[in-house]
Amino acid sequence: MSAEAATLQKPLGLLAELTHRCPLGCPYCSNPVELESRTGELDTATWARVFREAAQLGVLQVHLSGGEPGARRDLVEITKAARDAGLYSNLITSGVGINTDRLRELADAGLDHVQVSIQDSEPVSADTIAGYEGAFERKRTLAKDTVQLGLPLTVNMVVHRANIERVEEMIELALGFGASRVEIAHAQYYGWALRNRDALMPTRKQAERAAEKLVPLRERYRGQIVIDAVAPDYHARYPKACVGGWGRRSLNVTPSGRVLPCHAAETLPLEFWNVREHSLAEIWGRSPAFQAFRGTGWMQEPCKSCSRREQDFGGCRCQAFALTGDAAAADPVCHLSPHHHLIEALSGGQGAGEYVYRRMNTSTSAR
Ligand code: SF4
Ligand code: FES
Repeated sequence: MSAEAATLQKPLGLLAELTHRCPLGCPYCSNPVELESRTGELDTATWARVFREAAQLGVLQVHLSGGEPGARRDLVEITKAARDAGLYSNLITSGVGINTDRLRELADAGLDHVQVSIQDSEPVSADTIAGYEGAFERKRTLAKDTVQLGLPLTVNMVVHRANIERVEEMIELALGFGASRVEIAHAQYYGWALRNRDALMPTRKQAERAAEKLVPLRERYRGQIVIDAVAPDYHARYPKACVGGWGRRSLNVTPSGRVLPCHAAETLPLEFWNVREHSLAEIWGRSPAFQAFRGTGWMQEPCKSCSRREQDFGGCRCQAFALTGDAAAADPVCHLSPHHHLIEALSGGQGAGEYVYRRMNTSTSAR
């Protein structure tokens, strides 16, 4: 194990997946394909304890997420618990399920920030991607309410084949909403997005054109809105340090209390500990899942002797496993990986097809 791995870092962020319930059906949803049911969800008191333990561990920020966190009846109490624990709280919402009154209650309970996702700048396309008619208008209302309440707003957009040509229009929409920040991320291909990869993957040309557009757009909107854009994985030379490195910066708690090093970790054959049986500090320090890929000691070649190994930590474990069947392999995005040809074969975006929408018990297709 390297010296870096031997020193346990403090986590800074906690993603609290309060529920997997959600009225939307986005085909790139980062929730697992096997969704957890309402009956298994942690109760309010347990979330409050998790937040206190997180703060003691060094966590500064909690993302109240889902599914749609608005599906939790106790969302106001949960938000208050985050505030009482001294955490900065960020609500990540689809905009459906939180009306004006509820948002005001959340603000009164201490909510610090709102992040709303948009599926496209064109309402019809946005609702088609979300699999929910009227979602776009609900998002517009939530954004307006957020700004009126004086809460900072981030607009998040996941780009893929159906909307990547409208990056500029989506930034303008976020500006019109009064957002101070816009996050543009490409779909990440595991879980639901892996199932929908043929329908979602943009062509190489589309990805390049979108990247070129961002440079002048950043210049044009400097001082008006912060544009955070993550380069598309499949068209890169090196992988990203997924989640800032496994077990280094953040943890995720699932609706039923399983603690994961990243949101897609349940796709890997690992043992996850639960907050019902262990404290967060024990899980962070000793649980098998967090130990599995922490630091650099687990690496194989070419990562093992690579000069970038403590920069990108070998890329994304979930992507490596999804594409090669070996979670300890170099992320195939890396041009040094012996599996890089798999990415090259997929990155053309030659596929098409219907979406398989994310649903709790059943999957439906439409386009
Ligand atoms: Fe990163 Fe491994 Fe590629 Fe080196 S070989 S750049 S550590 S993925
Ligand atoms: Fe799991 Fe990248 S999503 S390590």
